[in-house]
Amino acid sequence: MRDWGISDIPVERNEGAMRRQRVASGALVGAVWLGLAALVAPPSAATPSDAPSAAPLVDPLGRQLGRDARDPSADPVPTPPVTPSQQEAPVPEPTPEPAPEPPAPGPDCAVLACVALTFDDGPGDYTALLLDDLAARGVPATFFVLGSQVDKHPDIVARMAAEGHAVGNHSWSHPRLTTLSAEEAGWQIDATTTIVQQTTGTTPTLVRPPYGVSNDTVLAVLAERGAAAIMWSVDTEDWRNRDVEITTQRALEGTEPGAIILMHDIHPTSVQAVPGIVDQLQAAGYTLVTVPELLGPTTPGQLYRNR
Ligand code: NI
Repeated sequence: MRDWGISDIPVERNEGAMRRQRVASGALVGAVWLGLAALVAPPSAATPSDAPSAAPLVDPLGRQLGRDARDPSADPVPTPPVTPSQQEAPVPEPTPEPAPEPPAPGPDCAVLACVALTFDDGPGDYTALLLDDLAARGVPATFFVLGSQVDKHPDIVARMAAEGHAVGNHSWSHPRLTTLSAEEAGWQIDATTTIVQQTTGTTPTLVRPPYGVSNDTVLAVLAERGAAAIMWSVDTEDWRNRDVEITTQRALEGTEPGAIILMHDIHPTSVQAVPGIVDQLQAAGYTLVTVPELLGPTTPGQLYRNR
């Protein structure tokens, strides 16, 4: 280190006359000593005049520090600690995620002939295909899901919400709520609400009681939770007929403006019938909407069958 310091400093300083060089060389000796002193002594012991002379000797160390500061792959010891937020802040997102679209004003069902397709008991093995069909037509639907099924297919339920469908509560395990105590019925609703919240980020306030059976106790349980009971006005009986033609016929014949159509996305024939039902409803002038769009704000503890 000493040899490096002596040979380096004269090159920088040797721009003047020989006399100046001798004087400079004399100064160099002092500079070297001062530099060594600077290295040995603690920083507080060095005076401001020591700094320029000490620079050549400490330069290798200084340049090493400079490299470390610029190169994050170098020895991490001299690198100042960086918090995760500081590391992330300057990194631009290559493809910024599109801001979630604010909920559209929605169709005015006081003017339009609105109808809501609803699907119970899922999600199941055919729900993803149904979501594909609905997405291809730009049509929203309402899914009354079972908490136990959400537990098995959380990704599909998250997709429902992300694609603009409404997710309602159909209990956890599909009991007749009228046979349960208020506490038991409440658990069926609450457990499903919780898993839907965790999966979609939104709280379902529309409940379809299993089998469409309800009573004052059930409605009181829903009212305590700010939820309304959503039944239907058109029953395709798709779970019974398991037939695309019959399911389609029942959906179309029973529908009038404000209708809520009951189907089940756990049966392949039901899912197969949906594209034809949607196309024919639209051809007849209907606007397909979610149940929240169809009904607007609902009253807790109230029961709805259509608009
Ligand atoms: Ni059901």
